[in-house]
Amino acid sequence: MKPITEIGAAVVGTGFIGVVHVEALRRLGVQVHGVVGSSRERAAARAEEAGLPPAYASFQAMLDDPRVEVVHITSPNHLHHKQAKAALEAGKNVVCEKPLAMTSLQSAELVQLAERSGHVNAVNFNIRFYPVLQHVRGLVEENGLGAVRLVSGHYLQDWLLLDTDWNWRLEPELGGELRAVADIGSHWMDLTSFLTGKRITAVMADLVTFINTRRQPAGPVETFATDRSARTVDREIHTEDCATILLRYEGGIRGSVTVSQVSPGRKNSLVFEIDGAESSAGWNSERPDELWIGHRGRPNEVILRDPAIMNAAGRNASYLPGGHAEGFADTFKALYAAVYGAVAAGRPGGGYPTFADGHDEMLVCEAVARSARESRWVEIARGAVVSSWAR
Ligand SMILES: NC(=O)c1ccc[n+]([C@@H]2O[C@H](COP(=O)([O-])OP(=O)(O)OC[C@H]3O[C@@H](n4cnc5c(N)ncnc54)[C@H](O)[C@@H]3O)[C@@H](O)[C@H]2O)c1
Repeated sequence: MKPITEIGAAVVGTGFIGVVHVEALRRLGVQVHGVVGSSRERAAARAEEAGLPPAYASFQAMLDDPRVEVVHITSPNHLHHKQAKAALEAGKNVVCEKPLAMTSLQSAELVQLAERSGHVNAVNFNIRFYPVLQHVRGLVEENGLGAVRLVSGHYLQDWLLLDTDWNWRLEPELGGELRAVADIGSHWMDLTSFLTGKRITAVMADLVTFINTRRQPAGPVETFATDRSARTVDREIHTEDCATILLRYEGGIRGSVTVSQVSPGRKNSLVFEIDGAESSAGWNSERPDELWIGHRGRPNEVILRDPAIMNAAGRNASYLPGGHAEGFADTFKALYAAVYGAVAAGRPGGGYPTFADGHDEMLVCEAVARSARESRWVEIARGAVVSSWAR
């Protein structure tokens, strides 16, 4: 097995999350040979400012570099399909940001291509890799909560609250037909499926756009940027600011989630509660090291992440002793440790979310859009693709 420190990678996209990818890879000792941006000049400037590896002249120049075995795709959503396909066809392993593609037709094609290629393929559902959530997955598997009955929660943010807030995600040609649901609701739905080991089978969704006209700055804007451009153009918005969704999971589990990008004060709050027949588990991403376990006949517990008291799955994803807070950036390191373990072994598989999971989330999102359009329950139309956690 090849040491991880001898594996070469490149990162496409140098925005908010591209930098997080580079930093996590560097922490693992992966050789990040370069980055690709929207142009060589912009990528080179960004590389210098953020301490990134050098900019490639083009996406193709990166593919042509034989040292690059793994390509990370962190560009805007509309580029994922095209870039992931080209990378697979060039013989690379691929880690792609969510959503995997713009449509389930595209994501199905990527699943097929990836399986045929025999290369490692991963979708960046990093939230699964908070150590206490890996612990919850183990707990549910061991029936530690009793049979799961109900899953509830929210994913709320406030960074698109004002009509002057702008990002490429607001443009359906770049971000997709769904916005809040595809961008953050997808994380919540993937996570709760992963934790319960049950897929979503049907949805009933209500979507709403509260801000129908936004003022688009004349120049480009980076994700979560707060400085405002003086020159703006009015743009009509059709993608949802908020969603309320009822969910049915395999095994009769019921669920509900509220998703919003316009909730004042909520910076990045993913909350869930899983209620079993004996105990419950609850978590809030703004306090990521704490896990709440609820009981009926004895006092509830709050577990602080600590490798010494967690199960094997939780311990594996943990890097620091208890009381030394871990957070968002650490989940990328834990996810890539699993992905690069597979690359090192030369064999896909091994506990990380795959293109099949990315495709499944596309099917769920399309069902959400359809349910909202037609005001009715919509079942998820699945083919033969099997999620990594259901194998
Ligand atoms: N897993 C997570 O937690 C998470 C968090 C944030 C974003 N994301 C995903 O990551 C992706 C990027 O989001 P972001 O917030 O970093 O956006 P961003 O706007 O901050 O960055 C996007 C980057 O892509 C670059 N780019 C544009 N066109 C390109 C091209 N043709 N080739 C190469 N690069 C190009 C831009 O220059 C920019 O550097 C999205 O798909 C988003 O859904 C995931």
